Amino acid sequence: MTVRLRIALTILATGVLSALGVILTVALAFQRFEHESTYERANVFLGRVVAMYDDVLDLHDRNPAEFTAFLKSLLLFEADTQLYLLAADGRVLASTGRAQLAPDFKVALAPVREAAQAATGPRQMPYVMGDDPEHMNAGAVVAARALQRPLIRAAEPVAGYLYLVAQQPSRPGGRLALFRSQLAGPALAAVAAVIVLASALAAWIVAGVTRPLRVLSDEVAAASRDGFGPATGIAPAIHPPAAGGDEFAQLRGGFRDLLARLRAQWDTLRQLDHFRREGVSNLSHDLRTPLTATVACLETLERRWSADAGLADDRRLIEVALRNSRNAAQLVRSLGDLALLDEPEFKLHPTLLDVGEVLDDIALRFAERAAKQGVALHCEAGAPALAAVDIELFERAVANLVDNALKFTPAGGRITLAAAQQGGQVQVTVTDSGAGIAATDLEHLFARLYQGRERTAPATGEGGKGLGLAIVRRIAELHQGRLKVTSRVGDGTRVLLALPAAA
Ligand SMILES: Nc1ncnc2c1ncn2[C@@H]1O[C@H](COP(=O)(O)OP(=O)(O)OP(=O)(O)O)[C@@H](O)[C@H]1O
Ligand SMILES: [Mg+2]
Repeated sequence: MTVRLRIALTILATGVLSALGVILTVALAFQRFEHESTYERANVFLGRVVAMYDDVLDLHDRNPAEFTAFLKSLLLFEADTQLYLLAADGRVLASTGRAQLAPDFKVALAPVREAAQAATGPRQMPYVMGDDPEHMNAGAVVAARALQRPLIRAAEPVAGYLYLVAQQPSRPGGRLALFRSQLAGPALAAVAAVIVLASALAAWIVAGVTRPLRVLSDEVAAASRDGFGPATGIAPAIHPPAAGGDEFAQLRGGFRDLLARLRAQWDTLRQLDHFRREGVSNLSHDLRTPLTATVACLETLERRWSADAGLADDRRLIEVALRNSRNAAQLVRSLGDLALLDEPEFKLHPTLLDVGEVLDDIALRFAERAAKQGVALHCEAGAPALAAVDIELFERAVANLVDNALKFTPAGGRITLAAAQQGGQVQVTVTDSGAGIAATDLEHLFARLYQGRERTAPATGEGGKGLGLAIVRRIAELHQGRLKVTSRVGDGTRVLLALPAAA
């Protein structure tokens, strides 16, 4: 959900809740007003009756049968109202209601007394709720007057009550309909209109306020999609945002500023990286020829002196010089290769071929060295595994892996090359039964110049530079493939080079 929508919904929800609150308050106020006016009317009515007939109890005593008709005549113009004559203990003596009440039916006396006292005493009540003998499950607004007999005993000041119950209006739909028709209908329409207007206004304000936020999120998305290159199309804002802009505008200005700085730094880094690669590449190129010449001269000398037993000491010196020169030549070559492979403009020259056949060639190339070391080097035959690979780079990668395997597998060990097609991948594996790699070394193997604790070949004492696996991984990346090493110390090592299979 967008921030915009969330803010708009929040405003709408707040508006709706406030409107409901207003309606509820109005409804309660309406109900209270209705009760108060009913109570007021009932009180006035009872006051009139008591003023006109001060012998109501006597009238009842004289002729109870006619008394009910008398009560009904009083109510001729009072709709939704019932009048009762109560004994002092709340018993109903006579009633205008239609319900047949039990002979000793009593109403709750407390509200009757309260209403009687409120009518005559100093205490003014807004209204009193009491029993409605017709509907005992619902309270009703009641009014009452205490009645006395002409001859009263001091202990019995009240001989009965005239009790008036104002019932719910008997219109269809009851009070709800009354409320709806009189107040809620118009109020609801007005509230609905206010909500619609407020929502439209809120949507307009939210759209205006969050516009810079939307532009900013578009710019962030463009930056994360296109990187720091010039393709983002975002104008750099080196200057701070203009004064008076809101927080969103300042945020946007800050982001543009940050992006411009990052882009400038990124350009500098790219240039530096370019110089580094160019420098390494040039150096490697310049050193390669003299080193090759030095190695050739040393090899010639070594051959010449090999027959002369008197030059044994000099020959040892030559061997050391030769080993170091070869290592230096290999390092220079590896550094030059990595610099070349890192070039963003570097292009592969893929050829569709059966990878298994290339493995056969490589196994043949290393056969003599393996035999010299007493290591069995095999290439497992399998179904053709077709992939589009740059043959030179692929050979280089597998040769590096076989070189490692030979370096770290002692005499009597075994190295197996295999290629298999699985799903959309061609999986090339180089497995050896050599020393294996410690778990702590495994995660760093592809780091440039990293060498594990086993850095020199146990058989030949040959060292390395820690660049071989980095080159293999870069070659795998260039082919959209991946490299995985699994190994346990003492159990040997298995390196998997997975490349996309030809479609
Ligand atoms: N098959 C293997 N068996 C045991 N250890 C290995 C094997 N392959 C690689 N390693 C370990 O991984 C390290 C890094 O290998 P990598 O090929 O990158 O460098 P290197 O062989 O030491 O030098 P370079 O390949 O540059 O001549 C090695 O030093 C070695 O400790
Ligand atoms: Mg290596």
